[in-house]
Amino acid sequence: MEMGLRNVGSHCSISEMDDYDLSSLLDRPKLNIERQRSFDERSLSELSIGLTKAHLDHLDSTYSPGRRSGFDTPASSTRNSFEPHPMVADAWDALRRSLVYFKGQPVGTIAAVDHASEEVLNYDQVFVRDFVPSALAFLMNGEPEIVKNFLLKTLRLQGWEKRIDRFKLGEGVMPASFKVLHDPDRKSDTLVADFGESAIGRVAPVDSGFWWIILLRAYTKSTGDHSLAETSECQKGMRLILTLCLAEGFDTFPTLLCADGCSMVDRRMGIYGYPIEIQALFFMALRCALPMLKHDAEGKECIERIVKRLHALSYHIRSYFWLDFQQLNDIYRYKTEEYSHTAVNKFNVIPDSIPEWVFDFMPMRGGYFIGNVSPARMDFRWFALGNCVAILSSLATPEQSAAIMDLIEARWEELVGEMPLKISYPALEGHDWRIVTGCDPKNTRWSYHNGGSWPVLLWLVTAACIKTGRPQIARRAIDLVEARLLKDSWPEYYDGKLGRYIGKQARKYQTWSIAGYLVAKMMLEDPSHLGMISLEEDKQMKPVLNRSSSWNC
Ligand code: GLC
Repeated sequence: MEMGLRNVGSHCSISEMDDYDLSSLLDRPKLNIERQRSFDERSLSELSIGLTKAHLDHLDSTYSPGRRSGFDTPASSTRNSFEPHPMVADAWDALRRSLVYFKGQPVGTIAAVDHASEEVLNYDQVFVRDFVPSALAFLMNGEPEIVKNFLLKTLRLQGWEKRIDRFKLGEGVMPASFKVLHDPDRKSDTLVADFGESAIGRVAPVDSGFWWIILLRAYTKSTGDHSLAETSECQKGMRLILTLCLAEGFDTFPTLLCADGCSMVDRRMGIYGYPIEIQALFFMALRCALPMLKHDAEGKECIERIVKRLHALSYHIRSYFWLDFQQLNDIYRYKTEEYSHTAVNKFNVIPDSIPEWVFDFMPMRGGYFIGNVSPARMDFRWFALGNCVAILSSLATPEQSAAIMDLIEARWEELVGEMPLKISYPALEGHDWRIVTGCDPKNTRWSYHNGGSWPVLLWLVTAACIKTGRPQIARRAIDLVEARLLKDSWPEYYDGKLGRYIGKQARKYQTWSIAGYLVAKMMLEDPSHLGMISLEEDKQMKPVLNRSSSWNC
């Protein structure tokens, strides 16, 4: 693997990039002056006052903040009027050391560059989900070429025939990860991909395809280069991914039925069914694909199905996954065994199945989307990724988004503690752990996927904070990360109720911990980056139900 950053040729020339630069669209000097004041005191909505409505609309449709200023210096820090944190330079060096090349071109970043670890497993591969924060960091720094290469390489992999034993997987499945094998004698590079056939547990990643679509939109928004998304290959790629999820069958819910371990939580953790992480990513991918799909014969059919699904999906999740004080109280008083259309307790959830902890955990003000909803089963656990993506995609209504942030603030010690952010809360212990995880020694209580704290989630919570106008919360989270992450060599996750201990089996120099930090810093520094990864509310998808107090607060 080549080290350091190579001069990646960009699709747009620098002068073209400047044409798209926000400085001409936004009142840049004003934004800079404003930015000299601490974000602690100011919210994005306040900052946006300097921008006219037309500016903001434009920001949503075509902006391109990426600007290049030499490859060893992050463009973001040179734009600053203040000194960047010393960790930023280390992070960029580490991120560049994780680059993976195929035939001389950068195509992704390796999951972890941990030379001390005896067990490599698959951490020497480029994971699709892990590459997302790396990609955003490169886009924000005005280096889109690697992202384009990645999108095209993974699209090729999608075209492979995928089999597990004698069973053939759907055409649209995207790999969880891939690896480049270098043969120095033959001077050739080959790709090896994993669609679940090598993965522990043999589960195909449902999230990869969604992240791919989300990244394609981020690339398009950031560069203003629509030509990539418009190619027939990308159009087909999107359609194949979505066809897998939009197929009609026995489903009575618009949510996507999944196996355990099909996403970031890629081991048995009782998230089978309709996990919020996948539902939120599904919703976001549908919304991202919608404006990118062409209105040709095949595209049109797909578009129609997307529109219908979005309506049903947002209704279902906003109504049935949402939990706040009022809703919890309603469920607590549910009648059971109701038959027919008039049933209030539609899924026949037995109130006795509500776990004790949730009654104490639920603040008077605040709420969240619970982990899973299916017949007679509500998984009341909190999952960070699904809730943040719900905010970014506007799956959450503005009131719900505000309530999620209220919950994070009210339950800071539980959800953040000393290291942002818990992947899930609370941890499963004792009998539950035995039954639900199958006695997984890696997922013991407050470790790894079972209530562990994952620094990568910092970028998602920062984006959610900016979107909801609460940058001071992100600032607090970033301060915690800056106190430890570099010193601890960028661990993959932390353990313990407060996230105080470096994870039992955590890798060091975990790339997405590094990239997540950079993305969080760059977004806070220049909130206009948010547009790459955030979607405004679609007014047509207003919730029908309005039964809880926090929706109106
Ligand atoms: C672990 C994580 C997964 C991640 C992979 C590579 O398996 O659970 O989400 O993609 O490591 O970092």
